[in-house]
Amino acid sequence: MHSLTIQRFETFWSQLSPSFSNRKLAIMGSEKPQNFNCVKTKHLCHFISNAKDSLRDAKRLGFMISTNLECNYDIIILELTKSRETNLGLVSSAEEHLNVGGKMIINGDNQIGVKSFLKTVSIHWPAEMVITKKKGKIAIFLKTKKLFCRWKKYRDFSINRDGYYTRCDMFSPKEIDKGSQKLTSVFSTNLFGEVADLGSGWGYLSKEALKLNARITRITLFESNYSAYLASKKNIDDKRATFRWASLENITNLKQRFNHVICNPPFHSGRSKDLSLLKSFIFLGSRLVNSQGCVWMVFVSGVYLENELREYFENIKILYKDKHYFVCQLLKPKTKGYKHV
Ligand SMILES: C[S@@+](CC[C@H](N)C(=O)[O-])C[C@H]1O[C@@H](n2cnc3c(N)ncnc32)[C@H](O)[C@@H]1O
Repeated sequence: MHSLTIQRFETFWSQLSPSFSNRKLAIMGSEKPQNFNCVKTKHLCHFISNAKDSLRDAKRLGFMISTNLECNYDIIILELTKSRETNLGLVSSAEEHLNVGGKMIINGDNQIGVKSFLKTVSIHWPAEMVITKKKGKIAIFLKTKKLFCRWKKYRDFSINRDGYYTRCDMFSPKEIDKGSQKLTSVFSTNLFGEVADLGSGWGYLSKEALKLNARITRITLFESNYSAYLASKKNIDDKRATFRWASLENITNLKQRFNHVICNPPFHSGRSKDLSLLKSFIFLGSRLVNSQGCVWMVFVSGVYLENELREYFENIKILYKDKHYFVCQLLKPKTKGYKHV
């Protein structure tokens, strides 16, 4: 069943797309290219995303792909994300990359504040048309010669209150996540040799790990969000760090095994909870660590149960627990259910 967001878009597109044939298009804000199957001219359409998996899926469907708008377009479709600042940054980028006479289409749900967002945009760029449908709105904006460049700042990396480069389109940009802080205080000076940081974000865990542990020979950061990957490169200046823009759900044939794995696993895909993603990180931890190695993970209490960790590890030590988080050391990975990673 399609979400209301996409049902709204499909109805709108079926009515207007005939007049948009052979135009250069771009889609931004969405992590689900499969939701845009109604766009028939995929060969003329760039799917723009930070997420490695979404770009891979978009390419398979026949879209052109990129992490940024790279040329000028006749139509840019923005599906609002849950981050207002990210949306403003995307509007500013769209404004810059539309041909004069081109159109920007904004689609969003009431739940994420589409009404107030459209009001903010309309102060500088009045909408040509707004349609209210399926618990949300779609608006069309016509590009004129006038540029207002109002929200460009949201596309820049800036230093957050804890001193790290971040941007609004990544996990916990404003400050260090409390769960990650608990994890670093638990692994402390115990890491050595080859270390993997799974879902490394803007690099907090790895930076702390390197600072506290002279015995680390190399740390490999795996992250699927392109801007977080770029931010981590800006935050960590240490020859022992290796950065990989990769989706852990799709790494295959990784021969290397690590002495330690550190991880604050994700449990959301876009706006919805995704426990299978969380589970795949636990599974991967068990595959990537060597048989004497150790996985250090933090969980939000209530999201995953200690007992469920026994599916992949023989030995589970809870090293910290409060009503918000628990941090554990996972030892003796089980080998059953082996899949190539
Ligand atoms: C809870 S955050 C932790 C970020 C960082 N380690 C920290 O402690 O601040 C989880 C991270 O996993 C990343 N992620 C989500 N799915 C991923 C995947 N399939 N492969 C690699 N990274 C992924 C997210 O982009 C996010 O940065």
